[in-house]
Amino acid sequence: MRFEGLQFSGAPDKKRMVPLGDNLMLGLSPMARDPSTPFAIETQEISRRFGSFRAVDRLTLQVRAGAIFALLGPNGSGKTTTIRMLTTLLPPSSGSARVDGHDVVRDPTAVRARIGYVPQMLSADPDLTGYENLSIGAKLYRIPRAERRDRIEQALEFMGIEQPAELVRHYSGGMIRRLEIAQALVSQPRVLFLDEPTAGLDPVARRTLWHHLHELRERWQMTIFLTTHYMEEASELCETVGFLRSGRLVRLGSPEELCRSGSGQRSLEEVFLDIAGEPHPSEGSSYADALRTRKAIRRHG
Ligand SMILES: Nc1ncnc2c1ncn2[C@@H]1O[C@H](COP(=O)(O)OP(=O)(O)OP(=O)(O)O)[C@@H](O)[C@H]1O
Ligand SMILES: [Mg+2]
Repeated sequence: MRFEGLQFSGAPDKKRMVPLGDNLMLGLSPMARDPSTPFAIETQEISRRFGSFRAVDRLTLQVRAGAIFALLGPNGSGKTTTIRMLTTLLPPSSGSARVDGHDVVRDPTAVRARIGYVPQMLSADPDLTGYENLSIGAKLYRIPRAERRDRIEQALEFMGIEQPAELVRHYSGGMIRRLEIAQALVSQPRVLFLDEPTAGLDPVARRTLWHHLHELRERWQMTIFLTTHYMEEASELCETVGFLRSGRLVRLGSPEELCRSGSGQRSLEEVFLDIAGEPHPSEGSSYADALRTRKAIRRHG
């Protein structure tokens, strides 16, 4: 199933936005839960080793088109490594993966043409304006010159970037994240990968971003694959979540299912703490991991 001619004209409908502070009910997608909907992302025993260390270990999962999926897990459990393989930036050591029907190793060009990617570290150039950042992205994606301006303006409007002529160094963290998502939207992707899109954002900026992501899925059936350390975010946004531990997928299901399992009802945060369990020597304990996490926090302000 292809959704040709995505158009990002018009910002999300503010009337449909639930006032902040109310219990947010963004709603799930019937399409993403329909067993006849094809998979937008499929991995089969995909692994990535660094030397003898397995960062991702025989990961098999499927995400239906139009779903919002979150990969969860402790620092160093393999989330970013998984995203880097699915976005063709890192070759798998073994196993296979398909994104929108294309193999990430055999057909990386077709995969890149269908995806948008917002990395964990802030990636917008602070010395360029918002518009210029998107313009560079449009050129990299080889958007025909005649279409560039429209596509950039639509993406800026959709993500609510009101000062595109301002240098990015003057943007707040929330605006930078929205700009980076706008940059990923210029190519009109069918699958959007977001690595910790709301890290370091205040609760208002975070909820604003949730609305934008929800709207992307509602209007264009875009499939969204994200990582987050905020369990509330995963509960609110996602049809399905997967938990990684030491590179292995240890749970997969809807937030409700995972919260119901075991002894009575738990929050997703309690499920996370249960799964993470005792400190593990390969997770989040190395100096490199600690340094990386602190650096990310500093950069997100
Ligand atoms: N290029 C690399 N070379 C060596 N080891 C790496 C490399 N990239 C990642 N790793 C290691 O692989 C493991 C998984 O890292 P990854 O960045 O995927 O974790 P993560 O789940 O995204 O963590 P976080 O929540 O902190 O972002 C970590 O132990 C990390 O140090
Ligand atoms: Mg990461």
